[in-house]
Amino acid sequence: MVIFSCPQTPHICPVPARCLHKRLKEMHYKTIFEPFRIKTVEPIRLSTEAERAAYLEAAHYNTFLLHSDQVMIDLLTDSGTSAMSAAQWAGMMQGDESYAGASSWFRLKTVIQDLTGMEHILPTHQGRAAERILYSHLGGKGKTFVSNTHFDTTRANIEFSGAEAIDCLAEEGNAGYEVDFRGNLDLDALREVIRQRGAANIPAVILTVTNNSSGGQPVSMGNARAVSQICHQAGIRMVLDACRIAENAWFIHHKEEGQQRKNYEQIATEMCALADCVVMSAKKDGLVNMGGFLSMRDDTLAAACGSLLIITEGFSTYGGLSGRDMEALAIGLKEVFDPGYLDYRIKSTGYLGAHLLAMGIAVVSPVGGHAVYIDARKFYPGIPITEYPGQALVCEMYKAGGIRSVEVGSVMFGKYDAEGNLIPAKQDLVRLAIPRRVYTQSHIDYVIEVFGYLLAHREAVRGYHITHETQYLRHFTARFAPA
Ligand code: F0G
Repeated sequence: MVIFSCPQTPHICPVPARCLHKRLKEMHYKTIFEPFRIKTVEPIRLSTEAERAAYLEAAHYNTFLLHSDQVMIDLLTDSGTSAMSAAQWAGMMQGDESYAGASSWFRLKTVIQDLTGMEHILPTHQGRAAERILYSHLGGKGKTFVSNTHFDTTRANIEFSGAEAIDCLAEEGNAGYEVDFRGNLDLDALREVIRQRGAANIPAVILTVTNNSSGGQPVSMGNARAVSQICHQAGIRMVLDACRIAENAWFIHHKEEGQQRKNYEQIATEMCALADCVVMSAKKDGLVNMGGFLSMRDDTLAAACGSLLIITEGFSTYGGLSGRDMEALAIGLKEVFDPGYLDYRIKSTGYLGAHLLAMGIAVVSPVGGHAVYIDARKFYPGIPITEYPGQALVCEMYKAGGIRSVEVGSVMFGKYDAEGNLIPAKQDLVRLAIPRRVYTQSHIDYVIEVFGYLLAHREAVRGYHITHETQYLRHFTARFAPA
C-alpha cells in the first residue's frame, strides 16, 4: 500500500486513492463538498411565524407533537431520517420477503458478522427492541448497569426491568473541557461501582459510541480497551451501543494517537472485538429509516434472547424487518464507512457548530458527530432551571424559523424529589441533530441566520411549566404551558 501524508490532517491516510482531503486540497476550495447529487426531491412547505405560533400552541409546546409538514428544517433527530442511496433503493427491489431463510437475511447477517465479529445476530425493528430483549433478560431487581451515559431508551428499558442504571461519564465529559474524547467512561468510577455493588450484580457495562446523551461526543479506542479489560477481569459483560460507530471511528482515526493507519471500518471492527454484545439502532449509521440488531458471542445468552426475539419481534431470520429493509441495511452498513461520506458528515456538523460558536453561543465543544448541542442555561440565563430553558429555546427556534429540535436536559432526564420538587438534569442542552445526506449547506446557513435572530431577541423569552407527563420517557408526550 502506498502511504502518503494527508495534506489536511497531520496523519498518514490509509486510503490514499480515496482521500477527500487530498482531492479538495488539489481543488483549493473550502466548501464542504456534499459527495452526492440529489435525484429525488421532497418539497418543504414554508410557513409564517404566525402560523407556527398557532401550530406550537396546538402541540402544547412540545415539538414531538407537531405534524412534520409544519416543520421547515427538521433537526429533531438523526434517527431514521437518512436519505438512502440509489444503491440502497435498488437493493430494496431485491428484498426477499420469505418468512424463513430469506436471502436478504443471509446477506445482512454476513455484513453484521463481518463488522461485529460475533456469531449470533438477532435482527430487530429498531434499537430499543434489541435493548428490550437484552435488558429484560439480563435486568431485574437488584441488578445494576453502568454506562458512559445511558441513552433515554436504554435507561428506560433497564429501569422498567427493575434494575438500576448508573452513568459514569469521565470528568472531561462535563461542560468546560476542550478535549477530543469527551464521551469516555470514567474508569475509576466504574471500578468503584463494581466494588460497591459486586460484579455478580452487574450484568453489563454499556459503552455508547458516540455518547449521544453527553453531546454526541466520541469515545476513544484507549477507553474502550480499558473498559473491556476491567469488565473481563471482573467477569462482567461489555455491551457496545454501536448506533454511531462509524462516526466514532472518524474521530478515532483523526484524533487518537496511533490510530491513523487503520481505516474507519477497521477501527469499528476492532472496537466491536472488545465487546461481548453489540446493540445497534441501524436508523443512525445503518443509513436506513428503520432497523436494528443485537449481536453476541455467548451461545446461552443468544438462545435466551432468540426466544424473546421470536415472541416479540418475529422469526429469527427477519426479526422485526422486511426483506427489503434488510437489503437496504446490508448496503448502508458498508456505505457509511466510505471516507468521502464520513468526512462530509463530520465536517458538516462541525460547520454548524463553528458558526454558532463564532456568534458567541455556548455550544458543547468540540462538536460531536451527529449533532450540535447548545447550552440553553447560557443562552437564556434569565430563565430559571425549573422553567426548562432548553424547552424555551426549542420553542423559540421553531417559532422563529420552523426549525424543530429537541431538549436534552431537565425535561428529558429531570426527576422529582419526595416533595415533588424538580431535580434538574446536570445540563440543559438543546440538540440540533443533522439527518444524514438530507440537508444542504444552504439549509444549514438558514439555521445559522435564525440563530442571529434568536440572539437579538432573547430578552423577552419566558420558560415553561409541565402540565401533563407520563412516568417513563415523559419528553415524548409531555404538555407544556408558558410560565
Ligand atoms: N441508543 C442510542 C445511543 C440512541 O441514540 C438511540 C436512539 C437508541 C439507542 C435507540 O434506538 O430509536 O432505534 O430505538 N436515538 C434516537 C435519537 C431516538 O434521536 O437520538 P431506536
